[in-house]
Amino acid sequence: MERVQVFAPATVANLGPGFDHLGVAISGLGDALLAEITPTGRVTLASVTGLTDGIPTDPEQNTASLAAKAALRLLGRKEGVNLHLHKGLPIGSGLGGSAASAVAGAWAVCCLFGRENKELAFRAALEAEAAVSGIHADNVAPCTFGGMVLVNEDPSHWERLPVPRRLRLVLALPSLKVITRHARQILPERVPLSASMANSARLATMVAAAYRGSVRDFAAAIKDEIVEPVRAHLIPGFYHVKEKALEAGALACSISGAGPAIFAVADDELIAQRVACSMKEAFAAFGCNAVAFVTRVDRRGVRVVSPKWRDRKTFAGPQLLKQVHGENRERIERGNAL
Ligand code: HSE
Repeated sequence: MERVQVFAPATVANLGPGFDHLGVAISGLGDALLAEITPTGRVTLASVTGLTDGIPTDPEQNTASLAAKAALRLLGRKEGVNLHLHKGLPIGSGLGGSAASAVAGAWAVCCLFGRENKELAFRAALEAEAAVSGIHADNVAPCTFGGMVLVNEDPSHWERLPVPRRLRLVLALPSLKVITRHARQILPERVPLSASMANSARLATMVAAAYRGSVRDFAAAIKDEIVEPVRAHLIPGFYHVKEKALEAGALACSISGAGPAIFAVADDELIAQRVACSMKEAFAAFGCNAVAFVTRVDRRGVRVVSPKWRDRKTFAGPQLLKQVHGENRERIERGNAL
């Protein structure tokens, strides 16, 4: 294959007590990447389009090209690749944007050379993600394999968990940026034993509930007293938005990845829509423009898509995000300075 286009979905990492170990891929949003083989032996980034604000165009800093390079090395190929990246996920959104680009870069290379090996793509993408936002696999794993994925401290040990049929995720994304690297620097090095044990028990409960297919028990365990309280101040109105989501019927609510996106859990479509409206309004009460939408779990992870795919309705998500990010540039820039 000389040319391929792939799509890598957005992800929600941590899911409360699963910091750095649990993540889920979500439908409707993600990054697309068109890649072609070149004889040069180099990885070039010919264009970056879509939600480009703050996205590095230097191939040594962009996770798509870094992962493509790592995949070429792992495959032992001497050729190069030229990449056209279409960002559907803004930088610093908490929706796994850098991971999506990395996974797309790695998977495109695997497909170009007829080696559709997701384990290899996972390793290459992890390497690229670690270079820009620290070592954590809870975005890269679900983005690669799809569904909900639990990753061990050795990321080569990962496990796909069953997704309860009625699970609905509501995402609210304010027009701010939180840079993951910064949001990791503020975390405590030591935590009280009681908090650590409570989080471990909750994570175990979530896994058990996933196997039983119970959204209610799964959501009831989404409480995090280690990371959420430390990062809450990075998101204006976080506790207010959470309170309004719960009042509107959400079963749980916490920060998506490093934020500023906030996710809520519901087991009913209508309630989920109501929660989305409440979260958007709650952000507005803090003078913060936000988009909120209901989504489901993407079970496929990264995949090849047709070259015309960008024009289809399924890629409407980025237009929605562009609205909010286009309108509130000043806040975004303030967020950048975190
Ligand atoms: N687990 C990571 C963190 C996810 O919370 O820092 C970042 O998207």
